[in-house]
Amino acid sequence: MDYDTPLFFHVMQYAADADRDVIDLVSGGPDWEPPTALREGLRDFADAEPAAFQYPPSDGLRALREEIAARRDVDANRVIVTNGAGEANYLAMAGALERDAGNEIILTDPVYPYYPGKAQMLGADVSLVPVAEDGGLDVAAMREAASAETAAVLVNSPNNPTGAVYDADTMAAVADLAAEHDAVLISDEVYDHYDFSGRFESALSVDGDHAVVTNSFSKSMAVTGLRVGYGIFPPELAEAARTRHMLVNVASARPSQAAVLRALRETGPEYYEASRDLLRERIDAFTDALDAAGADYVVPEGAFYVFARFEGFPGTLENVERLVDEAGVACMPGDTFGSYDEWVRFALVSPRAEEAAERLAAYDGF
Ligand SMILES: Cc1ncc(COP(=O)(O)O)c(C=O)c1O
Repeated sequence: MDYDTPLFFHVMQYAADADRDVIDLVSGGPDWEPPTALREGLRDFADAEPAAFQYPPSDGLRALREEIAARRDVDANRVIVTNGAGEANYLAMAGALERDAGNEIILTDPVYPYYPGKAQMLGADVSLVPVAEDGGLDVAAMREAASAETAAVLVNSPNNPTGAVYDADTMAAVADLAAEHDAVLISDEVYDHYDFSGRFESALSVDGDHAVVTNSFSKSMAVTGLRVGYGIFPPELAEAARTRHMLVNVASARPSQAAVLRALRETGPEYYEASRDLLRERIDAFTDALDAAGADYVVPEGAFYVFARFEGFPGTLENVERLVDEAGVACMPGDTFGSYDEWVRFALVSPRAEEAAERLAAYDGF
């Protein structure tokens, strides 16, 4: 697999260029409304004084960092506001490698492709450890893969692309394993608001002092374009992360941070519950259609993806292009996510997800 050229853009372009109507289930940008307070925050920002258009503090608006810290029950000095969880993951990996405690990063297979891309860009050796059949973490296999060379173990729950959610015992086991090898546990929790199983556990609850927890508002508030995320770093890694963030970015955008802060303060749990309800319905309709099409899939416990395979129809780029042309549905080929070339991933972030499912159920090319 080639991490230098993510296929997302290729498939989206192929779908856009197709001669027919195509339902795009390729990338993970929500199609639903952000919180009302977030729109209001952006509108009000436009009328602010010129000073509000200048550099914010590099590590984020103080009030936003404090709001996040209070919600996560950590010291605000450990919170760095980043350009999405994407940047927070990069800072976390860089910090783990800088300790000179090994040069390897353990990831799962299947994997969110930007992780190995970032790790390789940072000069790390990547070790991909297959997950269990149900998408759950195979901690024993991860333990076998770990060594004195392991600088970091990165996990993502709820998971992209499988939808698996790791429970408290699993998170504790992976935290132990990281500690045994003096490795940093990096826990990417961007889909934490989309846990349908009720079993999600943050790494903060099991290893609050040592893990780096990354998160963002991209998915929880349906604003991937605003680029507001954060990392919660252990005190010994926070200063280096702050410096790297500052030297690379100077700061993150102030209007986005102000709008997210307002939305955090003014949005009640019903907003998040409504998004979950919407997704639950989509997932049910979609997996019913996959059943009708005779597909095999990992039952999603969280996030908004369905990882599936169709017998006799491996998830190659060629077959993904056939699905675009012949079924009018665009998805991601499985080998984008590691060694899963039998599989494809559907992102249920279109109001037409159910229609896409019907098209798949009716497709006779499988
Ligand atoms: C697991 C995971 N982490 C991080 C990101 C990037 O999130 P952000 O928009 O916060 O950078 C994504 C986006 O799809 C993701 O799926």
